[in-house]
Amino acid sequence: MIEPVPSTAQVERMKRDWDARASENARYWVATGKEEWTDEEWWSSGRATVREQVLNDMTNICQGMDPKRMKVLEIGCGAGRITRALAEVFGLVYGIDISSEMVRQARLALRDVPNAFVFENNGKDLSVLGDTPIDFAFSMIVFQHIPSREVIECYVRDVHRLLRPGGLFKFQVQGDPAIESEPDDTWLGVPFSDADAVAMADKVGFEPRHRHGAGDQYFWLWYFKR
Ligand SMILES: C[S@@+](CC[C@H](N)C(=O)[O-])C[C@H]1O[C@@H](n2cnc3c(N)ncnc32)[C@H](O)[C@@H]1O
Repeated sequence: MIEPVPSTAQVERMKRDWDARASENARYWVATGKEEWTDEEWWSSGRATVREQVLNDMTNICQGMDPKRMKVLEIGCGAGRITRALAEVFGLVYGIDISSEMVRQARLALRDVPNAFVFENNGKDLSVLGDTPIDFAFSMIVFQHIPSREVIECYVRDVHRLLRPGGLFKFQVQGDPAIESEPDDTWLGVPFSDADAVAMADKVGFEPRHRHGAGDQYFWLWYFKR
């Protein structure tokens, strides 16, 4: 089967735009609810996300493993908001992001967190991690900005490559069908219907066991590696 190839121009545009956003005001562009975040508000918003999306879902995520022995991947870690909170729960956390400026700020902000490692990636796959095995992968408010199905599918395929058998990739995509994503817009990502989400999982070899929020901006998918 011929795999879809992400467009180089599109990936370069995403990198350029996210670097510009990170230089202007990284925290605002990561979480637009506030223009100015105090450190306390910022880190507690990451902890709230982990409470809501991870700590209340540990049966699916850990499947009996000790979280302190688990390696976790966060795709699109931005300035490290969620990365820090994940590192408080799991043994090792790898954050990857397309923007070198986001990565610079995340590394600086997480310099006191010895079990979190942040890497700039190529904006389309996980080659920066080599063959590092992962026990759980997570991504939130990242794919909703990606205007390319090919790029999203590339990430899904590469998570499948690194994830241990049975492991979970829990991630959020744009589910609002009214969103009109343009190929050169790096803010509004492509929407997924429930059928699209199931088809992408099938194509890559994941079981799309749970789906929540179809039709909404926050369309959550639980892809388990068979
Ligand atoms: C809205 S921010 C969210 C950051 C983080 N997930 C959080 O919630 O704190 C979106 C992040 O996704 C990153 N991003 C956008 N497109 C990406 C891509 N193709 N590959 C990797 N990261 C990407 C951006 O650089 C940015 O840091």
